[in-house]
Amino acid sequence: MIAIGCDHGGYNLKNALIEHFKKNNIEYIDFGCFSQESVDYPDYALKVCEAIVKGECDCGVLCCGTGIGMSIMANKVKGIRAAVVENTFSARYTKMHNNTNVICMGERVIGSGLATMLFDEWYNAKFEGGRHENRINIIKEYEEKNR
Ligand code: RB5
Repeated sequence: MIAIGCDHGGYNLKNALIEHFKKNNIEYIDFGCFSQESVDYPDYALKVCEAIVKGECDCGVLCCGTGIGMSIMANKVKGIRAAVVENTFSARYTKMHNNTNVICMGERVIGSGLATMLFDEWYNAKFEGGRHENRINIIKEYEEKNR
């Protein structure tokens, strides 16, 4: 189950990704926003990330103007590893090496064709574990110590 959210700057990109989910029978929950009226991106990043850490959703997609604001907020939530993706190599490797559970994309940066391709690349990639697991454990230890 995918959690998806956006602010006004990522609203059209979120809708394009939802169309892609529907066509491919990918289950999702839409956490808003639901119009292009100006909102605050951290509120929507938190809705998506909290659904993931509570176990209601497996992973998430966040869209704003650049993807960056969403990623800054998302990475402050314990248990979330979020990355802004703009190319297929990064999209694939951020799952394989970082085991990211959220990707962030910018509607003012990339088009909907690339965004759906980046989503597929990330969603279908598999975490490699091994030495990468050790590195993620260092992040988790830091999170535990600094709650
Ligand atoms: C909203 O204007 C814009 O700042 C937001 O969508 C995002 O790009 C922030 O990182």
